[in-house]
Amino acid sequence: MCGIIGHLGKYNNLKIGIDALKRLEYRGYDSAGLAAFNAEKKDIFSLKTVGRISNLEEKFSKSPIFGNPFILHTRWATTGRVTEANAHPHWDCKKNIYIVHNGIIENYRTLKDKLLAMGHKFSSDTDTEVVSHLIEYFFKGNLEEATRKALKLIKGTYALLIISREDPQKIVAARLSSPLIIGIKDKDYFIASDYNAIIPYAKKVINLEDNEIATITPGNFFILKEREPEELDLKLEEAQKGKFSHFMLKEIFEEPEAIRNSISGRLLPEEGLAKLGGLEEVKDKLKEIERMIIIGCGTARYAGLVGEYMLEEYAGIPVEVDVGSEFRYRKPIINEKTAVLSISQSGETADTLAALREAKRKGALALGITNVVGSTQTRETDAGIYNHVGPEIGVASTKVFISQLTILALLTMYLGRQREMSLVTGRRISQELQKLPGLAETILKQDKQIQELAKKYSQFRNFFVLGRKYNYPIAMEGALKLKEVAYLIHAESYPGGEMKHGPIALIDENFPSVAICPSDSVYEKMLNAIEEAKSRNGKILAVATEGNEDIKKIADDVIYIPKTLEMLTPILTTIPLHLFAAYIGLELGLDIDKPRNLAKSVTVE
Ligand code: G6P
Repeated sequence: MCGIIGHLGKYNNLKIGIDALKRLEYRGYDSAGLAAFNAEKKDIFSLKTVGRISNLEEKFSKSPIFGNPFILHTRWATTGRVTEANAHPHWDCKKNIYIVHNGIIENYRTLKDKLLAMGHKFSSDTDTEVVSHLIEYFFKGNLEEATRKALKLIKGTYALLIISREDPQKIVAARLSSPLIIGIKDKDYFIASDYNAIIPYAKKVINLEDNEIATITPGNFFILKEREPEELDLKLEEAQKGKFSHFMLKEIFEEPEAIRNSISGRLLPEEGLAKLGGLEEVKDKLKEIERMIIIGCGTARYAGLVGEYMLEEYAGIPVEVDVGSEFRYRKPIINEKTAVLSISQSGETADTLAALREAKRKGALALGITNVVGSTQTRETDAGIYNHVGPEIGVASTKVFISQLTILALLTMYLGRQREMSLVTGRRISQELQKLPGLAETILKQDKQIQELAKKYSQFRNFFVLGRKYNYPIAMEGALKLKEVAYLIHAESYPGGEMKHGPIALIDENFPSVAICPSDSVYEKMLNAIEEAKSRNGKILAVATEGNEDIKKIADDVIYIPKTLEMLTPILTTIPLHLFAAYIGLELGLDIDKPRNLAKSVTVE
């Protein structure tokens, strides 16, 4: 959403840069800033303001800055509130390196902790600022070299412009999944995130490609395609378990943060809208879509099934969900009004990709949700949305599943508001989404209790996991997690209403059921299923809504989740099920991070 302008060449007056920045105003922003190198004073000067570009212009007219090269930015807040300190440009401790950035640095927390421990002083709450300090760490007089090293440690998306007081005749520009264009007119170079901004100053343009780093110097530039592996002296990005014994536990405890990161910068609560930058280019096509096919494997497909309930109820779009390995061999009915949505944590799952290609061949609009920037899926889809929740190390997907559900809720708002969804409903979903990270945190406070329950239930070898409507796919996810990480146990999921049609024959005192029964529109129906199991001596572990004391009369044990909108309950009910599976796995002495026979990313058919 943010905008970037940079110039190296004959213009010293930043008024030109401000005018170019104004041409990016349509993209939406909440603060703006600039920086320029003044050759006389041999220093970089910067100005920032909250609000409109006109505020920046006013500040500039009172204390003008002259210099070249210069960089400018409009910011749409994601990490860090709307404040002057959080506006770009950002700089390092020595005020040598100045940068502007579009995108998200996913691993900024890890990097920031390390940099703080090394004595770096930060002046903002943004993810972006770690980049200037990382470049500072590697800077030995050559800006592009230091940038190249710093970028190797970064996970996320970026369009970056960087200038330095100690290497002043240069702009370094880098891109990964966020557009950056170099406009050239004689010996003047204008760099921007959007071609429109620099039309008057460009005879020719070069579109930077992913992983390219451009170094622009007076009258010259060169582009380096970077990605060869290189040993670094500082292992900043080593995945750390921190205080946790296993990555899976750490990642479950990151689930509230995963929700926060997934909605960050993507909600316009007053307008009841979701802002999904990755879908901008296909916005109009999406208005025409009459049907959606969601494809995924394993956990990702279950997220898709929750998406089916959300999209049909709130956006009025008919949805079909299939596993990649089945879809690719079917004869699906697809036309140009069909969108295919591929959901994959890794973006590399062979079955999902094959299904996606098949749908594209038949003319579907191809969309994707993935956590891995630059993965095959991102390259092969027309548009998409990143999870932005940082690397997931545990083989069984946990925090990314939570993020997939959150993004599907955003997508439902996005498509719903393009259609019949009212402003009031949009606002309601948006408000509830904002509360979710806090609510998710309260569930994790029951950690000890869930661990105790896992100990108690680990003696059983068979489980049913039951749910209805929005929580039927979560029953599937709960059973899958038990299979994946507590694999001495066989767990099966059923919609509550199906038990009486056969499976109930299995129930006795040694066959417990986990019953997901939040206080929603199907609560009474779920109670029937619980009663049926109970009257056959089956033990019941219920996941219910806070305040429901009655459930204690039927269930043997209860884990409570806070109240939220029915469509968002899956995001909360999943959390205790993930913890329960992990703790049972540990209780059985299994390696929950690397369960036997499983791989994180399955790139074969
Ligand atoms: C493997 C993993 C599962 C995962 C599935 C899909 O089977 O073991 O945990 O859900 O792949 O992975 P993806 O990267 O496409 O989401």
